[in-house]
This record gives sequence, structure tokens and C-alpha cells, in this order.
Amino acid sequence: MTPTIQVDSLTRTFKGRPAVDQVSFRVEPGEVFGLLGPNGAGKTTLVRLLNGLLEPTGGTATVFGMDAATQGEAIRKRTGVLTETPSLYERLPAIENLRFFGTMYGVPANELGPRINQLLTFFELDARGHDRPGGFSKGMKQRLALARALLHNPELLFFDEPTSGLDPEAARSVDDLIARLSRESGRTIMLCTHNLEEAQRLCSRIGVINRGKLLAFGTPAELARDLWQGTWVDVTLNPAPTTELIQAVKGLSVALNTQVAGEHLAVQVESPKNIPALIAGIVNAGGQIMKVLPREYSLEEIYFKVQEGES
Ligand SMILES: Nc1ncnc2c1ncn2[C@@H]1O[C@H](COP(=O)(O)OP(=O)(O)OP(=O)(O)O)[C@@H](O)[C@H]1O
Ligand SMILES: [Mg+2]
Repeated sequence: MTPTIQVDSLTRTFKGRPAVDQVSFRVEPGEVFGLLGPNGAGKTTLVRLLNGLLEPTGGTATVFGMDAATQGEAIRKRTGVLTETPSLYERLPAIENLRFFGTMYGVPANELGPRINQLLTFFELDARGHDRPGGFSKGMKQRLALARALLHNPELLFFDEPTSGLDPEAARSVDDLIARLSRESGRTIMLCTHNLEEAQRLCSRIGVINRGKLLAFGTPAELARDLWQGTWVDVTLNPAPTTELIQAVKGLSVALNTQVAGEHLAVQVESPKNIPALIAGIVNAGGQIMKVLPREYSLEEIYFKVQEGES
């Protein structure tokens, strides 16, 4: 299957300074891919390169198997982009805004009306279709901008910081709609954000970019495994482990590292696959296990650990 996005050693410099530096990755159809990075990391530049809005200095980017450097127009027919500053005509009623952009995107006239109604309903704006976005709240404007990005029914969506500047409630409602888009229509989504919680909620795979370089790429579980080597398992025992029991656990071949705090044992094993053997080992040594919890790392912990490795 052709990957939806394939990027190889992609580089773009501005006045000799790389904004995107030797970046390689691929995104498969139906994925929600999150690109995380601080201000100036190169996220927006990457989105523009992938849509053929900017020429690369080196390397290649293909979208739907087409070269972004030369086939931008054909790519953009099948992508929807929500930019950081969505431009809407503030004084044109919401419906007219969508009609204008839909016509520009080449949506056939007979399909446009139903499509607009469907999108206004999906983005919970059906009661406000005849109002002007000039009088909308930021969250409503953002939902209208999302509707605009979807007018031509694109298969691949680029959302560049879709919730920046929104209050937590409006941000959550935009996120919920993005999740629904992915779930109900199986669209491929690339989401640029600095909001780690948002990425954790929405994305199946993430990339961390800083100063143009892709520092990490994979599922959060894969990244955690690379960053921390092995899985820490927290085991609660009652009664608290005796010195003999601790020695026995330390002697287990699956236990790479063992730490003790009262009735808790923290044991590092190579991978989650070793957890049953660890449990069996503790039980055989006479330990009474109350709770076993493999440690999971939040995207926030992963993100900062990746950046730490770079500084
Ligand atoms: N048109 C341009 N001309 C010159 N420099 C540019 C241009 N576009 C981007 N840059 C530079 O490229 C680097 C990456 O910028 P980019 O906008 O891609 O970052 P970003 O990750 O989207 O940041 P933010 O989170 O602030 O939106 C920055 O140093 C920026 O100054
Ligand atoms: Mg940006």
C-alpha cells in the first residue's frame, strides 16, 4: 500500500539556515500523526512543503505517491489544510464563506449546498449559518475554518495548531470533532501542536521535531521503550517483602534492576512480555502480590526526555 506521506531526507533552508533538516518519516492511510515541537521547530514549514506550497532545498516528499515539489496542485485537491491563521471573510455570513471557498475548491454546484449543511451540522454551527464570523467567538471561528478545510472532502487533513488560543472547553470540543473525523471517516490526519495532552488524546503515532530535526518518531509506547530501555513494573506486596524475598527477586533472571520502598517493589524487566515470568518468580519465592502495575509514561514525560537528550 502506498503510504499517504513519505518524506526522505527532506530539507528546507531559509537564508542558509535549515528550518527542516534531513527529515524522514512515513504516515500510513488512516493514521492520526502528531508532530510536536516548540515555536520555530519547523512544523509549519513541513506542512507547506508537503502541500507543495514551498520548494524543498533537498530530499523528497511524496503525498499519495505524488512528488510534492512538482505535483502540489494535484496533491492540494486531495488535502485540506487548517492553517495557524485561518482566513475567513468576517463580514460574509458563514454559509456564504463556505459557498465561496467551496466554489474555489471546485466543488460541483449541486453538491455544494448539501455539503455545507452537513458540515455546519457536524461542526455544531447549523444555528449560526446566516451569521457573520466577525461576530463569532474564537472557538466558533475555528470550527468554521475546519468546515472550510473539509469542503472538498479531502482524504488527508493537516491541522496546524487547531486549538491554539482556545479556552479548554472550546479546545476540547474541537479535539472531539477531530477524533470523530478520524473515527467515522477514516481520514488521515497530521496534527501539529505544542499541546501534549491533545496529542496524547488524538494521535496514534507522534514525531518530535526541534530546530528542524526529527528527534523521535513512533507510537508513545515505542518511544518510551527507546528512551527508558525496558519496562518498570511496580509490585505491591502484603505483607511487605522480607530481605530473603528481595534477594530472591533480585536473583530472578528477568529482573534487570530492583528497587524497594516499604511494601512496594519496583522491578525493571526487558519488556512487558517478561511480566508473567516476574510474577511467577515472586510468587514462587513466597511473595503475596496485591497489585502489579507496569509503568506507563505520559507523552509529556516522553517529550521532555527527547528534548533533554538533545540539549
Ligand atoms: N518564509 C520564511 N522566511 C524565512 N524564514 C522562515 C520562513 N518560514 C519559516 N522560517 C523559519 O523557519 C523556522 C521554522 O519555522 P516554522 O514556522 O516552520 O516553525 P513552527 O514549528 O511552525 O513554529 P510555531 O510553533 O511557532 O508555529 C523558523 O526559524 C522560522 O523563522
Ligand atoms: Mg507553526
